[in-house]
Amino acid sequence: MCGIVGYIGPKEKKEILLDGLQELEYRGYDSAGIAIIEGEKLNNYKAIGKLANLREKTKNYTSDGFGISIGHTRWATHGKPTELNAHPHLGAYSYVVHNGIIENYQDLKEELQADGVNFLSQTDTETIVHLFEKFHKDSNQPFPAFQETIGRLEGAYATLLITEASPETIFFAKSGSPMLIGFDGDEVYFASSDTPIIGKATEVYYLEDGEYGYVKDGQVHLYDANGEKSFTKQALTADKVSAQKDGYRFFMEKEIYEQSQIMGDTMIGRVLDDSINFEELDEDFFDEIYAIKICACGTSYHSALASSYLFERIGKMRCDVEIASEFRYKEPFLTDKTLFITISQSGETADTLEALKMAKQAGLKTLSICNVDNSSIVRESDTAILTRAGIEKGVASTKAFATQSMVLWMLALYVGQTKNTISKETIKTEIDAMLHTPKALVVTDKLHAKLTRLSKRYLHGHGFFFIGRDIFFPLALEGALKLKEISYLHAEGYPAGEMKHGPIALADSELFTIALMPKTMLYDKIKSNVEELSARDATILAISPEPFDLADDFIQTKYDSHPMLEFFEMMVVTQLLALEISVRLGNDVDMPRNLAKSVTVE
Ligand code: G6P
Repeated sequence: MCGIVGYIGPKEKKEILLDGLQELEYRGYDSAGIAIIEGEKLNNYKAIGKLANLREKTKNYTSDGFGISIGHTRWATHGKPTELNAHPHLGAYSYVVHNGIIENYQDLKEELQADGVNFLSQTDTETIVHLFEKFHKDSNQPFPAFQETIGRLEGAYATLLITEASPETIFFAKSGSPMLIGFDGDEVYFASSDTPIIGKATEVYYLEDGEYGYVKDGQVHLYDANGEKSFTKQALTADKVSAQKDGYRFFMEKEIYEQSQIMGDTMIGRVLDDSINFEELDEDFFDEIYAIKICACGTSYHSALASSYLFERIGKMRCDVEIASEFRYKEPFLTDKTLFITISQSGETADTLEALKMAKQAGLKTLSICNVDNSSIVRESDTAILTRAGIEKGVASTKAFATQSMVLWMLALYVGQTKNTISKETIKTEIDAMLHTPKALVVTDKLHAKLTRLSKRYLHGHGFFFIGRDIFFPLALEGALKLKEISYLHAEGYPAGEMKHGPIALADSELFTIALMPKTMLYDKIKSNVEELSARDATILAISPEPFDLADDFIQTKYDSHPMLEFFEMMVVTQLLALEISVRLGNDVDMPRNLAKSVTVE
């Protein structure tokens, strides 16, 4: 999804912008651009495709002395990924970058065109810069013109604007899309998440919706609907090293291997000898709660779905799960005494954030489970539990899913524990299993080599069905999502018992069935389901501790004592399978086509 970087100060600006944009590459993008004003000189470069193209275009340019600068990576929403549609967008003497969607851009565009403005791009963003210049022409005062511009925008935006009319100022505004301001003495940075400014800025301020203003002479002037306001910066402490590849071929591969070790971080201080402890939750947090509703998107939705089995089975509490983009417009019937949980790796997913706002408005208690502290979803929620997976850069989420699943499992147990609906023995059994999770997540050379070998047989076919039952059904959905995200092959996740009600019609030797066959959960049931497919000549890749005669290919997992341990072990198998198929197909594993890591538009 689009990324923004801005800088005002004496340092070389091209490198700051390009390095910053590189840190945002993992969000997914299709073109990039920068604009720099130094003294009277204005420079603007754009390129489609990867940042390397923009680097090549700007190789003979360096900025000199004090100046202002903005940069952007674009993920196309309005108009194709072309150079003209890439940001920064220019007016006669001003430049703008923007994340989000200006919903009333058609009206604004028609109004501006009636005034004789000529549009160069098909984007919604271009309206911002023309509006600004129109108001500036009337008043000759840049900040009031910017204020007036912002006042006309409907929809979601994080935007930076620079203009030759005020060559020492960056104007900024945020509503619905993330943006923060970084500080290092008199130098000021902007970015859409903190990765571009780690190692550069020492302090940070996360802008709230409705805030806007300008930076000049190292001073940030911040406004909201009530006028100018003060704000408090906080220290920026994140660590850059954790964001590198460490010798792995891909971030996704590194992140799959990391899962075993980070699970310890997720559990520390939370999984105690004989109880679960969440410092984030007040003792009476669940007192008035009798049901749980979870909203999420993509991979996070799958961890939510898996947890719904656990909340009901272990926590003895009703739990419904909904896709956030569906929830938003269905006029949901929300009852009090329901805890509203949002799950998000990035904490910025627009649909999930909106669902959360709706639940808050309806007066529900809200909790978010998220990997990014200070993200919009975390800040919007009453309470947040962080998954502690560390920065995830592969667009196809792996360790975020693993840690979400873990936190939700712990939370289900916590509910049972605080509501006294489960025995001490059950708590102990669950905790024992939790403590064995890091082991279940270890990637052995043998397993990885086997999946690399096997992957060559799965590069074609007319489709993949990942099938499972109970919590292995959401895992099947997630396995299929991973495969389609990075291989571009058609894959579906399906409840194994449901195949006979339609999809079995597709079965033939070119239909690949990836069967999740845990020994601790409904083994005989899924075995029958797979036999039915095998009888119709489907090609079967069975993942199970138990050897299975009818399997064309077989990955043997360990005989574990708990379904969640089998869940995590099989999760690793499906992640590596997707990875190796994608590698063989020559795809961009970390930045698959058309996808974005953080989807900040509806
Ligand atoms: C995007 C990503 C997915 C992710 C989904 C939800 O589509 O490509 O990997 O699962 O957004 O993101 P979230 O950050 O809310 O978990």
